[in-house]
Amino acid sequence: MTKFTVNDRPVQYRMDPDTPLLWALRDASNLTGTKYGCGTGDCGACTVDIDGEAVRSCQVTIGYAEGRFVTTIEGLSPDRGHPLQQVFAADNVSQCGYCIPGMIMTAAVLLKRNNDPSDDEMDTAITNICRCGIYPRLRAAIRRAGRIIRGEEQVEAAPPPGITPEEAARTVPALRRL
Ligand code: FES
Ligand code: FES
Repeated sequence: MTKFTVNDRPVQYRMDPDTPLLWALRDASNLTGTKYGCGTGDCGACTVDIDGEAVRSCQVTIGYAEGRFVTTIEGLSPDRGHPLQQVFAADNVSQCGYCIPGMIMTAAVLLKRNNDPSDDEMDTAITNICRCGIYPRLRAAIRRAGRIIRGEEQVEAAPPPGITPEEAARTVPALRRL
């Protein structure tokens, strides 16, 4: 039995401790916001926050996560109101969207440490791959989210989604547990 915290809730997985965290999150916890891209640690689509670090969840096991605090894109903010989420929506940063949860989780860790990162600091911290090439918009979004965090700018809030991840999992057939 592996015990840790996911999005502020205690979880116990009756799974092999060598199970990749990505699969426990997606298949056992139905947290499908965390994406599978490459499975080799290269793309960053599976990035989550573990104890304040951006970690590629395909590259660590649930045994590694024992006793740690894991945050996925679903838990980044209770109302999807994190400045990055608001800016991504307001400025149409996403294209296909597949890489976006990993991008946002990585950028959120960066902004927590440094709310005014330089281009070099962004490039060093964010090695995630986007097949749609949103990189210029990503940099602009991080800069704008930084200004919002520093209180220098406001963003018009996107309408609340009106549905929690748990409700979505119940009502969206593709997310239902089998
Ligand atoms: S799926 Fe984990 S880095 Fe690509
Ligand atoms: S927005 Fe399509 S992969 Fe990044």
